[in-house]
Amino acid sequence: MACPFQDSAAPLNPAVLPLDWLLGTWESDEPGEGSFPTIPPFRYTETLHFTHVGQPVINFMFNAYHAESKKPLHRECGFIRIQPGTNRVAFIIAQNSGLVEIEEGELTAQQLTLQSHALARTSFAREPHVQQISRVFQLRADGRLEQTVCMATGDQPLTQHLHITYRRA
Ligand code: HEM
Repeated sequence: MACPFQDSAAPLNPAVLPLDWLLGTWESDEPGEGSFPTIPPFRYTETLHFTHVGQPVINFMFNAYHAESKKPLHRECGFIRIQPGTNRVAFIIAQNSGLVEIEEGELTAQQLTLQSHALARTSFAREPHVQQISRVFQLRADGRLEQTVCMATGDQPLTQHLHITYRRA
């Protein structure tokens, strides 16, 4: 059976060529650090899959696990698009918590800096509700990928929630 995460045999669409450095599977090299003023700090592992099928879109799936218990925790999946002729990037994201969001930002060299542009959630989502998200992906000089996520909730201003680095699997 074909692996569902296998890269397409189709050539990469030129529209998403500036994001080719993301493609493939990334595994956290050491546990990521989770924090927020209202929760106990925690450690997690995460696998990222970035694939394409020849469309002007990158598909992604992120699966996170508790570092000690190995239980599945956060999951998100979606699509990345680039505004033609610009360095504007949009992430269209669904999260297992019931949150859906669009993040927009800029691609500069091998760094993506994103801010939430639209957020929606299920009518029965747990509080506190996220009000704002900012996220940075950076390919470091040592070949590792780094992700930092900050969020604001109804209770708290924009504060770091996640920091993690990955190596290519
Ligand atoms: C808690 C949002 C990604 C693990 C929370 C809370 C929110 C939140 C709103 C509740 C904070 C509070 O009670 O004041 C988000 C958003 C994410 C994200 C918007 C992505 C953009 C992750 C990831 C993990 C994670 C990748 C990795 C395992 C946790 C844990 C808690 C938590 C363990 C504390 C327990 C709980 O409330 O479930 N997150 N989160 N989150 N998050 Fe995240």
